[in-house]
Amino acid sequence: MTPVNPFQYRDGVLHCEQVDLTEIARRAGTPCYVYSRAGILERFRAYDEGLSEVPHLVCYAVKANSNLAVLALLAQAGAGFDIVSGGELYRVRQAGAPASRVVFSGVGKTAEEIEYALAEGIHSFNAESEEELHLIDALAARRGVKARVALRINPDIPAETHPYIATGTREHKFGLDAAQAPAIWQRAQRLKNLSLEGLSCHIGSQLLDPAPILAAADVMLELVRSIRQAGYPVRTLDLGGGLGVAYRPGESTPDIAQFAAQLARKVAGADLFLIVEPGRSIVAEAGVLLTRVLYRKRTDSKEFVVVDAAMNDLIRPALYQSHHEIWPVHLSARPEILADVVGPVCETGDYLARDRRLANVLPGDLLAVATAGAYAFVAASNYNSRLRPPEVLVEGDRWRIVRARESYEDLIRGETI
Ligand code: LLP
Repeated sequence: MTPVNPFQYRDGVLHCEQVDLTEIARRAGTPCYVYSRAGILERFRAYDEGLSEVPHLVCYAVKANSNLAVLALLAQAGAGFDIVSGGELYRVRQAGAPASRVVFSGVGKTAEEIEYALAEGIHSFNAESEEELHLIDALAARRGVKARVALRINPDIPAETHPYIATGTREHKFGLDAAQAPAIWQRAQRLKNLSLEGLSCHIGSQLLDPAPILAAADVMLELVRSIRQAGYPVRTLDLGGGLGVAYRPGESTPDIAQFAAQLARKVAGADLFLIVEPGRSIVAEAGVLLTRVLYRKRTDSKEFVVVDAAMNDLIRPALYQSHHEIWPVHLSARPEILADVVGPVCETGDYLARDRRLANVLPGDLLAVATAGAYAFVAASNYNSRLRPPEVLVEGDRWRIVRARESYEDLIRGETI
């Protein structure tokens, strides 16, 4: 079942769950990110229930949206977490989640980060090189513990997505060559302070076709068999994240629960603990970036709608030429316009939409930039010394600010003359 869009019009006004977005803009100011608690939970549960056939853990990819309140609600729902830095581990722990549900991915873990993760007692490391295995082993020895490790494999499966977020073929920096994995496993077996638990992979993000992920699962299961044949136990299989969301209206996306059930069916009977690491598909559609129109501006060739959100708040259009729908908060009967929606930052790359059919909005009107629950605030910066916007979490007919708008003092914290 396709999860419902938590953003709906009521009497011509856009709401998040039961809350009028005008009300949030008035009290929290703009720009501002708004997330739906129900929207996030519904998508998380679609994974969790879809995988129910097999022992599993849905490790939400913290990088997609790492607000403490978001992490806390997922932790309470039983989620695990996929982290890629010490900072993400700190957030997960501050949100009250147990370290035992954390997997640590990433191609460049530092000694400090590994030590921190060992001290906290995370579930496992997804190791990406033999050098990393040796470092984890040495640090675990120093601490007198055994580190649980999975080998991250590069299954060499191309996936159709933006080239910056494809990760699963040989030309990418990620993972270990599948062909070498059995030999690496054998050598790693001798490292006394490691406990080799299993295998992991992640072939890319924003995949609208789940076929490559399912194909990667087949490659991984084959590898599990050959390592087991060599006499080694393989207990866990982590198939990463990557499921895409509809950024454009009508774009067809895989149903989360069905996709999860397909994965579970593949793994069923293989006596494996299944881990997945979805990020975007849990939070993207549950969030918007609320922004106010500052000016309308027309040149000979173009119409511009200048808004108070910019590329520093949502870098995806500038970085990946990605499309985000832009909804007027108030529906109007006036005919649409064709315009670029741009922010105040001093770069031509600072746009949220180009040549877009859009509501005929006027200065002071509110717009909601859709599908901004993932990879939006987390990638926001203070470029142009702009203050990062607040984040709001809606629950039914209530809402609260879960991260305050930054102040000028925040901007210079830690700096000296
Ligand atoms: N696991 C690993 C090891 C990853 O590298 C990623 C994402 C995920 C899980 C979660 O993937 P998801 O389910 O969210 O697709 N900033 C980009 C996306 C970068 C994704 C990086 N890795 C964007 O805005 O599109």
